[in-house]
Amino acid sequence: MNGETRLAKFADALTKKGAKPSSGQDVKSTTDHALINGHANDMVYKLLPRKDRRVHGVFFSGSTWARALVEQLNIEQWSRFLDPSAGTGDLLLEICKGLPLEETSTLTIKAWEKRLGAIDLRESFLRIAWARIQALAMTRHRETIDTSHFRPLPRSFRAGNLFTTPLTLHSGDCLVMNPPYQRMLAGRDSYVGAGKRSAAALHVEYVLRSAPENVGLIALVPDVLRSGSSYKGFREALRNRMEITSFNGHGSFGGDADIDVAILRAVTKSLAVKVSAVELLTPSQKSTGTLEKVADLCSVGVGPVVPHRTEETGRPHGYLTARNSPIWGAVETPTEKARFEARLQNGPFVVVRRTSSPKDKQRARATLVRGKGPWLVENHLLVISPRSGTIKDCQKIIKNFKDFRTDEWLNHHIRCRHLTVEAIASVPIWDGEQA
Ligand SMILES: C[S@@+](CC[C@H](N)C(=O)[O-])C[C@H]1O[C@@H](n2cnc3c(N)ncnc32)[C@H](O)[C@@H]1O
Repeated sequence: MNGETRLAKFADALTKKGAKPSSGQDVKSTTDHALINGHANDMVYKLLPRKDRRVHGVFFSGSTWARALVEQLNIEQWSRFLDPSAGTGDLLLEICKGLPLEETSTLTIKAWEKRLGAIDLRESFLRIAWARIQALAMTRHRETIDTSHFRPLPRSFRAGNLFTTPLTLHSGDCLVMNPPYQRMLAGRDSYVGAGKRSAAALHVEYVLRSAPENVGLIALVPDVLRSGSSYKGFREALRNRMEITSFNGHGSFGGDADIDVAILRAVTKSLAVKVSAVELLTPSQKSTGTLEKVADLCSVGVGPVVPHRTEETGRPHGYLTARNSPIWGAVETPTEKARFEARLQNGPFVVVRRTSSPKDKQRARATLVRGKGPWLVENHLLVISPRSGTIKDCQKIIKNFKDFRTDEWLNHHIRCRHLTVEAIASVPIWDGEQA
């Protein structure tokens, strides 16, 4: 039996009535205080060899680090507590020690369910975490731990990769994290910098990107993020995005993880300040003042055809509409023709859908029009035409529209459900390295 299967069996043993954990001990006797106080972590370490744990940075906080992280936290201040790399729940468990109790342990568990959220690659970890949290609730109610009263894993506990699992943050949420520390390849749009970087920096960066204002963050991270010259950009971005309460070194993590750590405490800033965070994502350009805009490269206008109003007395030409222009795709030859009496547009150019809400994941959804045309364009589309007349510049603009910084920039500048010529013309051209 491999480590993964044994781990799943161990998680089953903690949550099923009458089952035996692989150590051979009775569940009830192991669960009591031992389960809450670290027995679960000892079992995971026994079942998963260190070399397997290193791949995804499975080094749990333990109660000492968890206490150090949570001790200054004002539990009352935050509505929910989310650990986006939760492991077996050391940090959430520490928070639950301070959460209020309801009349019965069942009601307490239900109330906590609403205030907690977790993500981890391994579902078995989340099941262990949830079992520990429920065991803690029963213990705090001075009851014997009874696994038959355990509730199923809440929907807010999601097994998956943080980078692809939805994490919806609201103002008033508090992130508590001890992210994995192994090195991983940073995406091209990361402001941590290109190449292999600490996964911890990328995890923190990732969660902050989707955080609205007034989201708390407490994170145990490698000290190099606080002190290393190669993480200067990361710290700069952090300072612009967050009010940092403290970022102090705390020495060695200990155990079998040979690394110095620091604790970061911060709160995301208000939206007004967020603009500078967006700008900060391209610090070099901002400081030299050379940031180009779409309007520096292209002319921008609204498609001139207003269907039902424009006369259909002209010669037939390729006709582009929001329906027949594939998002992020290219059009070479017309799939539709029309005879509207309207200004014609020569290719190549880019069209962007005007309908675009801050709720959309991507705001400037574009299509490359490669064919020379000339084309008729419907007024539900914006036409972005490069002055160079080249496909290369069209592709550059599309890449820029795909960049997450464009979404953030537009979300700040235009809250209504339609993109305007002015907004698209003013979108900055982001640094080519990062875009
Ligand atoms: C350093 S441990 C910390 C666990 C827990 N927060 C604690 O304080 O004990 C990091 C955890 O992140 C999880 N992990 C690693 N990469 C992940 C990813 N991309 N998405 C979600 N979880 C991940 C690992 O499975 C591991 O449980």
